[in-house]
Amino acid sequence: MSERPTALLPFPDSAAIGPVGIELAGRPLTDLAAEFGTPLYVYDAASIRTRASAVVSALQTAPSGGRAAFALKSLSTLGVLRLIHEQGMGADCASAGEIAAALRAGFDGGSLVIHGNAKSSEDLHAAVEAGARLVVLDGRDDAERLAAVCRELGRTQDVLVRIAPGIDVDTHRHIATGHHGSKFGVTPAEGAALLRDLPAGLNGRGVHVHLGSQILDTAPLIAAARWLPAFAKAEGIDLQVLDVGGGLGIRYTPEQSAPDPGAHTRNLVEAISTVCGDEGLDVPEIIVEPGRSIVGQSGITLYSVIGTKTVGDGSTWVAVDGGMGDNMRVGLYGATYAPVLAARPLDPGTGLYRIAGRHCESTDVVAEGVALPTPQVGDVLAVPATGAYHQTMAHTYNLFGRPAAVLVDEAGAQLITRREATDELFARDV
Ligand SMILES: Cc1ncc(COP(=O)(O)O)c(C=O)c1O
Repeated sequence: MSERPTALLPFPDSAAIGPVGIELAGRPLTDLAAEFGTPLYVYDAASIRTRASAVVSALQTAPSGGRAAFALKSLSTLGVLRLIHEQGMGADCASAGEIAAALRAGFDGGSLVIHGNAKSSEDLHAAVEAGARLVVLDGRDDAERLAAVCRELGRTQDVLVRIAPGIDVDTHRHIATGHHGSKFGVTPAEGAALLRDLPAGLNGRGVHVHLGSQILDTAPLIAAARWLPAFAKAEGIDLQVLDVGGGLGIRYTPEQSAPDPGAHTRNLVEAISTVCGDEGLDVPEIIVEPGRSIVGQSGITLYSVIGTKTVGDGSTWVAVDGGMGDNMRVGLYGATYAPVLAARPLDPGTGLYRIAGRHCESTDVVAEGVALPTPQVGDVLAVPATGAYHQTMAHTYNLFGRPAAVLVDEAGAQLITRREATDELFARDV
């Protein structure tokens, strides 16, 4: 992989340069754009399989076993979920909708871990009815509501409590979740008190922590994993399950480098096993909940160039046929990307271009300061590393239908989401 041209570094594993530009598993991106239209989400099956199976294998080294629950919030398209299920992962779901998606994709209810800082009774009903492996409590009201659902359904439910340990991570503040003041989880002291005094029908199995997302320095993730067993021992918590969440980052631009998900999972297992040995504790079952690090690097978004113009300050805009409707991350977090022209990825840049989205917001910008060979109307722009938190966050602002998605592997390109037609935009209006 290291011999790949720099421009291709954030692209999926199967990407290579062919006679007509970038190819994915042998299919030119320009062909995919012509066949399925733009904007188009493209996912590389090989990238997803490799990462999912590496995490699953790493957990097999855990003394008391482990479970990798894929975070559906990062990508919940059924065609991709089926692939992830085939690799042996479970699912982390944060709503009745995500539970339905996991079940439709073939996940067993017993492989589901349920999240949410404001779960409704409907979400909790769906969780208990699915036979979810664990519901992660976000506070006492959540516990009381879940207990009421369990009474109504005549069931009991295994639970974890989400702790916000007060550990800061080096990521955008809008995707940090484990600091003091986070809206997620409870303080360590409150978590311990809740586990000691759970309402009838709920069985406490351990604790959960999730520090944030797009974390490239893994030290805080390992620190949290090491801290939790010692904390549980000090509080007298019977730690049967330790869920250390997700959060591992990916490479969005060629300059970045990102940790390997399999190696990181092995490090987590080792850190937890060592600290449990030091504390004289049995190693709990370990759960991880990766999302972005499984699917993020697999995705490419393809756009068509609609027009170019040089404006009053001398800068040149390149307008494309997508934007914030298919990529919310720029507006939400100021995320940066390294787009290339799919047919001319290695041609020298003739300037630094600003890539504009088509939505009526000045913040609707795909990327700024991008070195490209002079873009022409009709060129296909390929934005790499768009597999996570893109399709799941897509919306229909300005009444543009949401894009189609294809899954590509050696066998070909399979349409897994069709483009949203204009008529469908009014399906719910009465
Ligand atoms: C509880 C929980 N688990 C897992 C994840 C997945 O995180 P990531 O996609 O960064 O791996 C998230 C996302 O924020 C989360 O909130």
